[in-house]
Amino acid sequence: MRLSIKGETVLLTGASAGIGMALAQQMAGEVGVLILVARREDRLLDLKKQLEAQYKGLRVVVRACDLVDLEAVKALVDGLEREGEEIGILVNNAGFGDISLLEFAGWDKLQRMIQLNVTSLTYLTHRLIGKMIARKKGGILNISSSAGLTFMAGAASYVGTKHYVTSFTESLRCEVQHLGVVVTQVCPGPVATEFESVSGNPTGMSVPKWLEISAEQCARESLRGFVRGKPLIVTGWMMSMMMFFSSMTPRFLMRFVWGRLARMLRERQLPR
Ligand SMILES: NC(=O)c1ccc[n+]([C@@H]2O[C@H](COP(=O)([O-])OP(=O)(O)OC[C@H]3O[C@@H](n4cnc5c(N)ncnc54)[C@H](OP(=O)(O)O)[C@@H]3O)[C@@H](O)[C@H]2O)c1
Repeated sequence: MRLSIKGETVLLTGASAGIGMALAQQMAGEVGVLILVARREDRLLDLKKQLEAQYKGLRVVVRACDLVDLEAVKALVDGLEREGEEIGILVNNAGFGDISLLEFAGWDKLQRMIQLNVTSLTYLTHRLIGKMIARKKGGILNISSSAGLTFMAGAASYVGTKHYVTSFTESLRCEVQHLGVVVTQVCPGPVATEFESVSGNPTGMSVPKWLEISAEQCARESLRGFVRGKPLIVTGWMMSMMMFFSSMTPRFLMRFVWGRLARMLRERQLPR
């Protein structure tokens, strides 16, 4: 089933940077209303100014909100409802990682990550999907990660949150696929954004640059797949190949390889 975003009202989380900002820029020419959410209001206001100047007829609404705080997320949706915004498309993009062996990770950061990547994403979807079903029209785009399709050492909690997003999105798609609502997930590999600086990298081991794609490419491929109604988009052909081979690799082999890597990481990572 194809999805039309023309003239729609879109709620987009994490629009102040990276993939979210690129998604906003690429949707702006088609949609009617863009509701941009993140904590850094100044960046959102700059983006609003830029997009409204570029696309006549587009209305951009800015909402500064810490999505880790569930009460603030509830107030955000309540406020938008009171203002009469009819959200037809939800893009759950805001998220961050914690790159660390679990014993060295800080609990506060892990808790915030689970709140953002899992709880707030689920809450927003739960609040908005009913009206989409009633309208027999709408779309939900969840930005998961290739980490949601495989497992790996050095980021167990982040991988866990993205496995949640992946399974949640696939299952929800099955629930609503005959009701006119498109549910799609994107599983990017490394994308050049602020992600690594926010997630931390205590071992100093980086992903190879040849695997990395730009936020613009990630957004482009995500939107192309979303409007075509695809269930799952792995961005970048190299990452798609890697995910294909990873799905073919026996689990015992994956455990062996990641186990060896974890030993290396433990030698390199000092407690924080
Ligand atoms: N970059 C990658 O390599 C990669 C790979 C796979 C998946 N992903 C996923 O892609 C999504 C976007 O990440 P990105 O790479 O674009 O990272 P990014 O450049 O760090 O952008 C993250 C966005 O999320 C927002 N955000 C973070 N915490 C928030 C909070 N508590 N409340 C509200 N908004 C919050 C940030 O805005 P504020 O800081 O202004 O609040 C920012 O707009 C994430 O879900 C990430 O897991 C990224």
